[in-house]
Amino acid sequence: MKYKTIIEPFKIKSVEPIRFTNREEREVLLKEAGYNPFMLHSDDVLVDLLTDSGTSAMSSKQWAGIMEGDEAYAGSKSYYRFEAVVRSITQMKHIIPTHQGRAAEKILFSIVGGPGKYFPNNTHFDTTRANIEFTGSEAFDLLNEVGKHPEIRADFKGNMDLEKLEAFINEKGAENIPLCLITVTNNSGGGQPVSMQNIRETKQLCSKYGIPLFIDACRFAENAYFIKLREKGYENKTPLEIAQEMFSYADGVTMSAKKDALVNIGGFLALNDDELAIKCRNLLIVTEGFVTYGGLAGRDLEAVAQGLLEVLDEHYLQYRIRSVEYLGEKLIAAGVPIIEPPGGHAIYIDAKRFVNHIPPEQYPGQSIVCELYLEGGIRAVEIGSVMFGKYDNQGKLIPAMMELVRLAIPRRVYTQSHVDFLIEVITEVYKKRNELKGYKIIYEAPILRHFTAKFEPLMQ
Ligand code: F0G
Repeated sequence: MKYKTIIEPFKIKSVEPIRFTNREEREVLLKEAGYNPFMLHSDDVLVDLLTDSGTSAMSSKQWAGIMEGDEAYAGSKSYYRFEAVVRSITQMKHIIPTHQGRAAEKILFSIVGGPGKYFPNNTHFDTTRANIEFTGSEAFDLLNEVGKHPEIRADFKGNMDLEKLEAFINEKGAENIPLCLITVTNNSGGGQPVSMQNIRETKQLCSKYGIPLFIDACRFAENAYFIKLREKGYENKTPLEIAQEMFSYADGVTMSAKKDALVNIGGFLALNDDELAIKCRNLLIVTEGFVTYGGLAGRDLEAVAQGLLEVLDEHYLQYRIRSVEYLGEKLIAAGVPIIEPPGGHAIYIDAKRFVNHIPPEQYPGQSIVCELYLEGGIRAVEIGSVMFGKYDNQGKLIPAMMELVRLAIPRRVYTQSHVDFLIEVITEVYKKRNELKGYKIIYEAPILRHFTAKFEPLMQ
């Protein structure tokens, strides 16, 4: 088409009103929530960017699928439709449904993990790391150097560092590495894509040492579209063809369908290894459910199958990637420091540069998150020292590598005017950044503290 405006490739059939509050109300609500937006009631939030997970708007065909769902305990026809679609994309032999991504991780690592084992990844998502560490194994992030620098623009900042991976295999011993993972796109590193070349070369390296390669595929379609846009030789391929090639290098897949399957709940584990599949299915029956539903209703499987077809539509992916990029471009133009270039599912504000007067011990990301809510009712999430900070023996904070605020964009939920509103609010908060104060933690849980921590603003 000759027109440059990329429109939302859908019409809206059903709407959900959002509730407006004023700053005074939000001050009370945020204080009651211990200055932790995870503790807010969602109807006190105007634009909710906490996560892109499970927050997609489903299509009329997905809702029709909900009615079509076959709720048979065993052998449901919805399972077979789900299996056929997942197999057509991943080409995997065994397709095992789970209720969400971490359930697939839990099953996989319970079987292949254990003390003395090591699992490399470009960057582990926190549930992946937690499921690995829970078995007594260790998880390592071997991200390419360029991916660690928010201000550097590069096409594939999610790539695995292959030199580091080879050194890691030699150091730990291939026999102690049950599998290697690669996460597409790299969520914890800014939603940055991984190139096909990098996936292929990671596979080659793993094969040299007899290590299986698994893909954490939550955002596989967004990654495939970035490959189409940025990698030579893929410009004329369809997102499906690109996704198929990505998965052709994998021995297994873990997937949270709550992202790129456009559903509110669901996931799967897909494998080629027959023996491993038997063990996983046996554990599935104990923890999730029978092999043809795995913790989901038949209707959920229908919605996943339909969502996986829709997410690979080029008009959808063009709109999706462009709408996130639009937000990023406007924020950059307003001087707001973000991870560049914009990622696939989210914009990550670089809090270190945004409020450089607030040191990591006073949680700069949390300060921005709180102000975004107070200023405009926007809910974002801190991905920095609140989420990943640890303490040394003296109880001193060991800060996270980066201090970020993630603005995750739910799929097909908000329109361009919501995004324009976000840009206005964030720009306003940026203008008064020097007035922002640090925070201190007054309560925290021993693990995954960011969900329930309580804070107090510092006065000085
Ligand atoms: N892997 C990645 C890369 C993820 O981003 C997530 C979830 C999971 C695994 C786990 O999937 O939630 O279905 O159990 N990420 C969400 C987020 C929660 O907000 O980024 P799940």
